[in-house]
Amino acid sequence: MTEGALHLPADLAAAVRAAGHLVVLTGAGMSAESGVPVFRGQGGLWEGFRPEDLATPQAFGRDPERVWRWYRWRLDRVREAQPHAGHRALAALERDGGFERFTLVTQNVDAMHQRAGNRSVIELHGTITRAHCEAGCGRTAEAHEVDPAAALCACGRGRLRPSVVWFGESLPADAMDEAAEALEQADMAWVVGTSSVVYPAAALPGIAARRGVPVVEVNPEETPLTGQLPYSLRSSASAGLVALARARLGEREF
Ligand code: OAD
Repeated sequence: MTEGALHLPADLAAAVRAAGHLVVLTGAGMSAESGVPVFRGQGGLWEGFRPEDLATPQAFGRDPERVWRWYRWRLDRVREAQPHAGHRALAALERDGGFERFTLVTQNVDAMHQRAGNRSVIELHGTITRAHCEAGCGRTAEAHEVDPAAALCACGRGRLRPSVVWFGESLPADAMDEAAEALEQADMAWVVGTSSVVYPAAALPGIAARRGVPVVEVNPEETPLTGQLPYSLRSSASAGLVALARARLGEREF
């Protein structure tokens, strides 16, 4: 479902039509309209919780069952959720947009972009759908098959843990390098549904903006990034992405 049609400034629409390499960076707000909660603010996942009690290696070491139960609750929400028109617009752009290169980078762990049909997605913070052995034996599992109360890996040397990046951990080097390289090469970037406060992901749009490349933020709220960008659409992800995608693909439903 999309809100009333959003009107883009003419120079922004022209930049969307002219782009050769588009990079789209998404955050939790991208999935909010699918019913997946964001992290910060009222009703956010961190409300009433301290991230260090749930999303750190230390928290998992102290109480793995509690951490797994939180991730399994989130995974259930994600599995019930459906991609919205904004997700589908991004899939249509990758498929039909005629870009020389299209790069989708996400901080989200919910795999909604892949479910909507995007083929190559750089996941900066991993994925909630998978688990792997904390001892590094290489074994992996589907997260929904892991028993929170008995998550011992078959190797016997460690537990299976969610394949997400926790606070205090490094981002996957390949994913971060690939994302930074894409923003160095891009001639347009869209930043959708992120509070732009968690680094290093929050530094990525600046790589393109500093080169004078048109960077567009799509967010109903202002963020620390807003003042540094030439364009900022105060809109939901679905309305903003549908308007941007239509500038490239013409009038159509997503
Ligand atoms: P946040 O929860 O910090 O921010 C969500 C953003 O989405 C806010 O700026 C909202 O204004 C915006 N928003 C809300 N509804 C929206 C909608 N319908 N359309 C578009 N935008 C909307 O989430 P992230 O910026 O993704 O990290 O957070 C970054 C990282 O912090 C996450 O990846 C996670 C978290 O702690 C880890 O777990 C490592």
